[in-house]
Parts: sequence; structure tokens; C-alpha cells
Amino acid sequence: MSTDPRPIGVFDSGIGGLTVLKHLARRLPHERFVYLGDTARVPYGNRSDETVRLYAQQCAEFLLKHDVKMIVVACNTVSAVAMDHLRAFVPVPVVSVIEPAAAEAAAATRNQHIGVIGTRATIGSDAYAKAIQRSAASAFVHSRACPLFVPLVEEGWLDTAATRAIAEEYLRPLQAQEIDTLVLGCTHYPLLAPVLHDLLPGVHLIDCGACTAAEAARVLESTDEVAAEIPRMDLYVTDVTPSFTTLARQFLGMPVDDPVVVSLEALTLNSVRQGGRP
Ligand code: DGL
Repeated sequence: MSTDPRPIGVFDSGIGGLTVLKHLARRLPHERFVYLGDTARVPYGNRSDETVRLYAQQCAEFLLKHDVKMIVVACNTVSAVAMDHLRAFVPVPVVSVIEPAAAEAAAATRNQHIGVIGTRATIGSDAYAKAIQRSAASAFVHSRACPLFVPLVEEGWLDTAATRAIAEEYLRPLQAQEIDTLVLGCTHYPLLAPVLHDLLPGVHLIDCGACTAAEAARVLESTDEVAAEIPRMDLYVTDVTPSFTTLARQFLGMPVDDPVVVSLEALTLNSVRQGGRP
């Protein structure tokens, strides 16, 4: 069996994507990872599709300069609106978080009622509903944008009375639809899993990170490109915010090394518009 020592590139709008990197590192323990969090421009979830595509392109170009063998798009918002754009110019496999999580939800549901929660951009794109219905044509997909969840998690309000009240408000329509499966369609939502479990007892929660890591491993194994390296994570961010260390540790589930800061100027400098559009 041959191996490929090149790193796997992972990017997200910020450091929420460390919830995906956590699963990648567990599932692929002999890989090197280069992670870029666009912390200077987070959040992407309330931006236009054009802007998200441009930012995603710049992140992918940065990772390609690190000679990555694969790019994992840890951000649901980017996965929802920019995959065709990225796949049109990235010369290595690009794995999204949406396709693996949608397939898992389609396989898990028993009553064919699946809920999906995410940012406004993710839900507005209908990308999850389309991907789920490709695997389970008869499934009913009930989607709900939960834009307040990201700031709540970033504030560390993982289980406060306010968080529960907001979650109840968001989840009420999904409870009424009697969903038996819920896709946590945003990097930050796995941290709210205990509250979501309480509010939706018996509902199967799908964490995109775990499904995506399994898909990344499947792609590498099918092309004999897994590595046999000493594991390593190189973290790059476009801004170091005061809460970086605390949040990064929470998202990754372990302490993190200091990140390297990439200026936005450097990230955007040689960005070439692909196909005449951002
Ligand atoms: N990473 C984003 C996502 O998974 C959440 C934060 C943002 O809005 O940029 O959709």
C-alpha cells in the first residue's frame, strides 16, 4: 500500500471548524493537518452567497499553497453555497460536511421526518434538503435557521436559561413535525448537543464532524493516499481574538498551540476570480 505524506487542508469561517478537525484527527491519526480559520471575517452565515464563495476561494487557494492532498470544508455555510465553485478549480478532492451528514441522516431516520438546523445561508440554500432527498427521496426535511446559536456558543453560554429559552423557540416547529433525526448543520452546534438532547428526547442528533471524517478517510483509502506520519496540526487564523484559546480548546476538545496569523492582505492578494465570478 502506498502512502501520501502531504497534509490535509481544512478550513472554516472561524474556529468552529475545530469541531470537525477533532473528528478528522481521531479518524485519521497519522495525518498532518493544516487548518485555516478566517477569524477576521467570521461569521459567514449571514453573508451573501457571492461573498461566501469569494472568501471560500481565498481560503482554498491558501491551503493549496501548502501542497495539501485534500481539502475538507468544515464550514456548513461554505459547503452549502460554494462547493461547485470550489470543485471547479481545486485540483484535489474537496470534501463537504453536508453530503456525508445528509447521507447519515437519510440512513438513520425511521419515520422519514428529518430536521436540519443551521445558519441563515445554509438553510436558505436548501442544500441539506436536496442532499437528503438524493439519498431518501421520500424523506420530509424540516429546516430551521438558528442564527442566535453561534453567538451563544461563542459567548460560552452552552447551557444557560437564555440558551434553553432560545433553543425551545427555534425547535418548537421541529418538535411539532415529530422529527426523529436532527442534523446539526453548523460547526458550533455540537457544543449545544446536551441542551438539544433534553429538548428533543429520543431524537437522533447527527454531528457533521464525525460523518465528514469518515468520508475523508473513505476518499483517502480508496486512492491509497492515507499517510503514515507523526500527527501534526498547523493552525492559521486571520485574526487572534481575545477568546481564541478558550474557544479553540472547547471546539477541539484539547489544548491548542498558538496559531500563526495570516493577514487578510496576504490571503486576498493573489486571489484570481475564477470563471468570471467571485
Ligand atoms: N462555520 C459556520 C457554519 O458552520 C458558522 C459560523 C459562521 O456563520 O460563519 O455554518
